[in-house]
Amino acid sequence: MHIGVPAETRPYETRVAATPETVKKYVSQGHRVTVQSGAGTGASYLDDAYSAAGAELVDAPTAFGAEIVLKVQTPTDSELPLLKRGAVLIGMLEPFNTENSSKLAAAGITAFSLEAAPRTTRAQSLDVLSSQANIAGYKAVLLAADLYPRFMPMLMTAAGTVKAARVLILGAGVAGLQAIATAKRLGAVIEASDVRPAVKEQIESLGAKFLDVPYETAEEREAAEGVGGYARPMPPSWLTRQSALVHERAKQADVIISTALIPGRPAPTLLSVETVQAMKPGSVLIDLAAGRGAEYEGNRGGNCPLTEADKVVVKHGVTIAGYTNLASMVASDASALYARNLLDFMKLIVTKEGALNIDLADDIVAATLLARDGEVTRKA
Ligand code: NAI
Repeated sequence: MHIGVPAETRPYETRVAATPETVKKYVSQGHRVTVQSGAGTGASYLDDAYSAAGAELVDAPTAFGAEIVLKVQTPTDSELPLLKRGAVLIGMLEPFNTENSSKLAAAGITAFSLEAAPRTTRAQSLDVLSSQANIAGYKAVLLAADLYPRFMPMLMTAAGTVKAARVLILGAGVAGLQAIATAKRLGAVIEASDVRPAVKEQIESLGAKFLDVPYETAEEREAAEGVGGYARPMPPSWLTRQSALVHERAKQADVIISTALIPGRPAPTLLSVETVQAMKPGSVLIDLAAGRGAEYEGNRGGNCPLTEADKVVVKHGVTIAGYTNLASMVASDASALYARNLLDFMKLIVTKEGALNIDLADDIVAATLLARDGEVTRKA
């Protein structure tokens, strides 16, 4: 089959959906691979490496004109008409963005959105949310260390002792757990909060303290169990108690990394304006939910309403970073892992003989299919 790899054009996007390593595999399976010239440059994969792997270097219309198009982000309005009706598009296509899903359906594309894959053992190797969130959690800590005007580790020097930074992690999913591990390596003292009881052990095994907000009702306990591994919105009673605890811990924190998300919903507000006002001057918040929170003063914040998407701002003496695409800041490895996720997904829809076979009896294929034959096939 003809597999096309266009360059990504959205702001702050430097990743690419295939690397020379995965191109080589597709070519060895008998596919024709076309890569838009320069597609990998932002991720340090140069055209020569793609050629050496067996790809043809082409322009955007040729890459988009393939039978299977591999993308990182969903195509823009000007890119969409470049796809052929009936072509297969695979990428992170924002399954909860109903307007986008309708556009993909209207274009007659068979679209697979890998963020919608189930969180099962079999789906692990193609789990793009995990591969990219892991990187985001790591990078968030490095950015925090950079913005924080003090040391992270405890240091005993001839000029006196420096205390270790206190890091508070809100949301201990894939990104939060990697943030804990990374902050630990830098010598910080860490505490973390999550709604799901299952994460307590994971937080503690990484050497951080779990901030417990005990459940007081059956409703709270049931909501905290989540669904499909994901969090559900917690009842207001629990959120009020969590907010009081977070407020107290935030006052002591030097760095906060917030990663709390609920699929298909606005990210929960965990750090109020009053909490930021109470934080120490020079402290740093890296808000991984930037641009996905509730609306505040005409902006969509993150886990904090004061967060501004893709900006670093100082509010009440606190530096708040709202980068929306941290994985893209580690573009080379982020692309390598993402490209392998796609390679693994392709095995589910392309036979060994190289033919397309969309088997809806496969739970991963069924869950990720977003649009087909002009219809949106997945409920947001
Ligand atoms: P996510 O990115 O959707 O959310 C991040 C974290 O925020 C989650 O841990 C969530 O519980 C937490 N959160 C939501 N509301 C919160 C609140 N009010 N306060 C504090 N924390 C809050 O989650 P992610 O990282 O995608 O992971 C979701 C789950 O899937 C995890 O349990 C993870 O271990 C599991 N998973 C399972 C896999 C598998 O079995 N194949 C692969 C990857 C993840």
